[in-house]
Amino acid sequence: MARRNPPSNSLEAYWMPFTANRQFKADPRLLVSADGVHYTSHDGRRILDGTAGLWCVNAGHSRPQIAEAIAAQARELDYAPAFQMGHPKVFELANRLVNYVPAGLDHVFFTNSGSESVDTALKIALAYHRARGDAARTRLIGRERAYHGVNFGGLSVSGIAASRKQYTPLLPGVDHIRHTHDLAKNAFARFQPEHGAELADDLERLVALHDASTIAAVIVEPMAGSTGVLVPPKGYLERLRAICDRHGILLIFDEVITGFGRLGAPFAAERFGVTPDMITAAKGITNGTVPMGAVFVRKEIHDAFMTGPEHVPEFAHGYTYSGHPVAVAAALATLDIYDDEGLLTRAKELENDWADALHSLKGLPNIVDIRNFGLVGAIELAPRAGEPGKRAFEAFLAAYERGLLIRVTGEIIALSPPLIVEKNQIGEIRDHLRTVLSALS
Ligand SMILES: Cc1ncc(COP(=O)(O)O)c(C=O)c1O
Repeated sequence: MARRNPPSNSLEAYWMPFTANRQFKADPRLLVSADGVHYTSHDGRRILDGTAGLWCVNAGHSRPQIAEAIAAQARELDYAPAFQMGHPKVFELANRLVNYVPAGLDHVFFTNSGSESVDTALKIALAYHRARGDAARTRLIGRERAYHGVNFGGLSVSGIAASRKQYTPLLPGVDHIRHTHDLAKNAFARFQPEHGAELADDLERLVALHDASTIAAVIVEPMAGSTGVLVPPKGYLERLRAICDRHGILLIFDEVITGFGRLGAPFAAERFGVTPDMITAAKGITNGTVPMGAVFVRKEIHDAFMTGPEHVPEFAHGYTYSGHPVAVAAALATLDIYDDEGLLTRAKELENDWADALHSLKGLPNIVDIRNFGLVGAIELAPRAGEPGKRAFEAFLAAYERGLLIRVTGEIIALSPPLIVEKNQIGEIRDHLRTVLSALS
């Protein structure tokens, strides 16, 4: 068979994820190096990273300490089988990690991504109820507009139509509570919106419809990120917790974005004072350097599995790369940096300056909302008639041209700089946005 040899710099062979491939390949945006809060583009420009990569590079880019830990680990122990075998550092990491989540969540299961963490948590929920003789609890509840990754379980409980519609019918026995986005009442809210705690009661509607005895778990992002930053209304998460308690339903917080300091505390559960039964994490766990995810599980849930013959795995689940030594080394080095530099609470120190910077853009054309929490922000634009998402996409391209990386989802600009960002750089982000948004038709 004749071999085609595309030039090594051809963009054709790579089918890019969640990317407008044709647009990208016509006008590529390649990043070739990074340090601190900056990327360098292939055309030699410094790009201020307003998104911490994809919400994951919390300690800033190319940290030597992490790079060295990764290299040393690859030389010392490149891989150890994850099933029926272990290596010392993965136990060390688990013991360390449980200190960052609320008390009681004292077991960790390792995965390689946020999507895998979500599917793992959903499987734990189903298997937990079954282990307790409550096998009728099979229903999983998500929330409209949620993003829980792209695997079938997570996608089924997600609520973003654009990422679901090509794959229906997805998992059976899934339902969704209403989302909390209410611009009529909460537009331009600083921090948590005042209105909407009662939207948690939508779970009672599903309990009445399906009966609690059929519901295994509810999963929510404590602050929805990828759908465009939806900050939980005051009292909402507390109310959701109370309803779950009333009906024996497990509450899972998907903290793939909010974990590791994004909201000013190690995890959002702590920041909002609500403890779920499981927490999913990924992204910031290794500062984005090596794929890794984790599921934190309450002791009672873990212990319910510890029955049956002792030579048989209690939970028939895991990945070849669960607790991969190189990812573990990266995570340990990352935690050292978070601790040494106080990064997991830094967003709290900066969040008022951050809020001031973003809300100063109010009044520019087309902006229908600005919202913020921790070091996360969103600017929602009015859609242009007949061209959904186009205005925000143009903002993304224009910002990149000016030297600022932002992220857009639908009509919403989402911002989440690395947690090492300095106040003057927050000012730079604001100024770039002002210029870009002022010029947008
Ligand atoms: C809340 C949430 N859950 C799950 C995921 C999926 O993570 P991954 O892309 O690592 O599979 C994401 C990704 O952004 C996320 O924001």
